[in-house]
Amino acid sequence: MRQATVCIDSEALQYNLNRVKQLAPTAQIVSMVKANAYGHGVKDCLAALNESDAFGVACLEEALEIRKLGYSQPVTLIEGVFSEDEMQIAIEQKFECVVHQTQQVEWLIAQKDAYIAQSLKVWVKLNSGMNRLGFKADEIIEIIQTLKSEGFNCVLTMHFANADTEQHPLNEAQKNQFLAIKAACKPILASCCNSAAILKWPELNFDFVRPGIMLYGASPFADRSIADLDLKPVMSFTAEIIALNSIESGESVGYGSHFVAERPMNLAIVSIGYGDGYPRAFLKQNFVAIQGQLAPVVGRVAMDMIAIDVTGLSVNLGTEVELWGQRRWVDDVAKANGTIGYELLCRLSNRPKRKRM
Ligand SMILES: Cc1ncc(COP(=O)(O)O)c(C=O)c1O
Repeated sequence: MRQATVCIDSEALQYNLNRVKQLAPTAQIVSMVKANAYGHGVKDCLAALNESDAFGVACLEEALEIRKLGYSQPVTLIEGVFSEDEMQIAIEQKFECVVHQTQQVEWLIAQKDAYIAQSLKVWVKLNSGMNRLGFKADEIIEIIQTLKSEGFNCVLTMHFANADTEQHPLNEAQKNQFLAIKAACKPILASCCNSAAILKWPELNFDFVRPGIMLYGASPFADRSIADLDLKPVMSFTAEIIALNSIESGESVGYGSHFVAERPMNLAIVSIGYGDGYPRAFLKQNFVAIQGQLAPVVGRVAMDMIAIDVTGLSVNLGTEVELWGQRRWVDDVAKANGTIGYELLCRLSNRPKRKRM
């Protein structure tokens, strides 16, 4: 049987959750499990993240899945509801809504009694410079005042555009705006930290932190590894060697024959490809890990197979190859691919088998 496997390490997930607790000891933790827990599989991840105070998702369907799996923690819909009908379902299921536009505020006020009766908080989103979602500084105070006067318990929330970049000038501007609005709307609950912000700005943890990528053991920073951040990789993505070949100098490998051997080489063909979600377009040399050693990928990634230079390694048919995981971090594969770990984790296909450790 084809052995392309995604294995989820629940203990690593719990370890990373504890790292968040150490870094933000007084905040409640809203573990982000959107996009099928960043591609890790929401079912297994919820079990490992059960100690979270709440969960965060991007839409009602993802929130309903959490209830279907039997979890009763608060769930925050980080983009709010997409229609008035969804608001009713959100209230019934006790999902807390972000409001980022006037229409959502109107839907909320129209169903105010039911929302408040469920003791749900409303997350009012500030657009402090990311310019995706949220109310601008000059309108949000009035919206919060209106919601408070209607009896809602509000959380002021925002998202950093550059928390992963050390010296970006927008960071200070976003922080200052958030602090000013928070002061103007006192008393109010507050939440502005994703993983990068949790790791960098403990003074901004406030009432709720919203870790995503760090829970899964990938780094939010281009220049700081998971070892630097004391995080453990949660996903191991592996496959097996299904053929061994030897080629001479001058022979090529794979589609397009772009790779041409400059010396005699031993090749291992591994049963993984872009049909599994392994990226095809590499900007730099990529590697896999075999028996704890890095070995270069040669030639183009195909739908179902890749070729590895195993010259000098002692490998057999069936030897396991780690595409990313403990030895070869997803962040490094992402760098070679010109993308970020988040994308590689989320875009795995359904083809690899899923296992929990
Ligand atoms: C509003 C919000 N909060 C928190 C997060 C988690 O971010 P990260 O995975 O960088 O920790 C996200 C992710 O996109 C988000 O959109």
